[in-house]
Amino acid sequence: MEFSIKNGNPEKQQSECLVVGVFEGKKLSDAAKSLDDASNKAISTVLNNGDMGGKLAATLVLQQLADVNAKRVLLVGLGKESEFSTVQYRKAIRAAVKALPAGVSNTGFYLSALAIKASTTQRKVSNLVEVTLDASHQVSAIKLKKPEANALKKVNIYVEKEEVAQAEAGLKQGLAIASGVALAKDLGDAPPNVCTPTYLGKQAKKLAKDYGFKVDVLARSDIEKLGMGSFLGVAQGSDEPLRFIVLQHNKGKKGQKPVVLVGKGITFDTGGISLKPGAAMDEMKYDMCGAASVLGTFKSLGELNLPINAVAIVPTCDNMPSGKAIKPGDILTSMSGQTIEVLNTDAEGRLILCDALTYAERFDPSVVVDVATLTGACVIALGHHISAVFSNQDALAKELVVAGEDAHDRAWHMPMYDDYQSQLDSNFADMANIGGRPAGSITAACFLSRFAKKYDWAHVDIAGTAWKSGKDKGSTGRPVPLLTQFLINRSA
Ligand code: BES
Ligand code: MN
Ligand code: ZN
Repeated sequence: MEFSIKNGNPEKQQSECLVVGVFEGKKLSDAAKSLDDASNKAISTVLNNGDMGGKLAATLVLQQLADVNAKRVLLVGLGKESEFSTVQYRKAIRAAVKALPAGVSNTGFYLSALAIKASTTQRKVSNLVEVTLDASHQVSAIKLKKPEANALKKVNIYVEKEEVAQAEAGLKQGLAIASGVALAKDLGDAPPNVCTPTYLGKQAKKLAKDYGFKVDVLARSDIEKLGMGSFLGVAQGSDEPLRFIVLQHNKGKKGQKPVVLVGKGITFDTGGISLKPGAAMDEMKYDMCGAASVLGTFKSLGELNLPINAVAIVPTCDNMPSGKAIKPGDILTSMSGQTIEVLNTDAEGRLILCDALTYAERFDPSVVVDVATLTGACVIALGHHISAVFSNQDALAKELVVAGEDAHDRAWHMPMYDDYQSQLDSNFADMANIGGRPAGSITAACFLSRFAKKYDWAHVDIAGTAWKSGKDKGSTGRPVPLLTQFLINRSA
């Protein structure tokens, strides 16, 4: 899909479909008003007939208005003008994209000129591009009958003349974020017999080739040499070979400490010997969405070529039950030397992440952020709208929450008081890998914190936000927008 920034009167534009907004109470936006005036009140007439009142996300297509060059005009409801914010703006764009008639291959949006408090032209355009690409994303379904290709090829975004430069910057940012989101979605949605650790390693190598990252994909013998006994423990139940992926983007000042992103890459989580129940177990193919979002963020980073030093680390394997699998009661020795009593083999994410966190020390990081579909308890705490952030530095948690607000990919700062640490006590090892039912997402974070003492660290639990279940089952690509925004803010 191709996007361009344009300026000009709506009635003059040649387009298959122009999109203009209407506020609740039949109040026309400036662009809608221009079209209405040019067309002898064609829009007001339709609104007065009661066909559309401006309710948020309502849509109506009008054909061939008199003295308007565009073939069609798509009216989209913006809701109450007094409440119009980025949230409404994004909802209206999504509704408009979904409502574009099937034959439309080029369209022009007159929505980015709408005033939004606390937003900028750059943000508005970036949002428009992100939402348009997200809403028209096609899953690469493996079906005999191929789904129809997207008709929409060209999108013009109209802004005021003096805003064109800002809009171009927003376009660039929006495209970069959208490409990272699309990669994360594709990796997440890929079936687990395709998206294996080996496959993720290949994807990382492809990214390295496309964007000039340094890449290392470690296999078993190297991982054994590093002493990653905890990661190896999880992987030992599967015939699928494990991988440890490291990408480096060194475009910051020489000697500048890097931002390290760590992504949980369990390509399928059966629970292991502590086997999960069968219902919806297919969704555990999404247990590599932390890894997918870290790779997706690196794609955005490569597109933007940000002046920053950054490292991506992805430990990846399957969690399977087998005669070779770890059992409850087994004790693993992590790369840090700390020992872990495995009381539940389904708490495997933390077991692969802890060794990756120890490995991260060698980069002398300015900050380490791990991203993981770590706990069902997180879904119970926050549901599907907001990711959870835990940190050993309140300022860092705040930085991530702010980046999430900026990027409309929200997260919430969760508590991680030392009081919870004793839930991980073990009689036989330095710690147990589970902390009981109370505060399950917090004790998981507490477990990780024991491996992240040497640097500023945050943990983002995306168990509720990484994918959607039910009829709309699919990866969301979150938290690529949050992480990319975090890197943009850090590089500024
Ligand atoms: N990958 C799961 C967490 C998960 C479950 C994410 C459901 C999204 C939806 C993780 O590996 C896991 O199984 N966690 C256990 C931990 C428990 C055994 C302490 C959980 O949350 O049940
Ligand atoms: Mn599990
Ligand atoms: Zn898992």
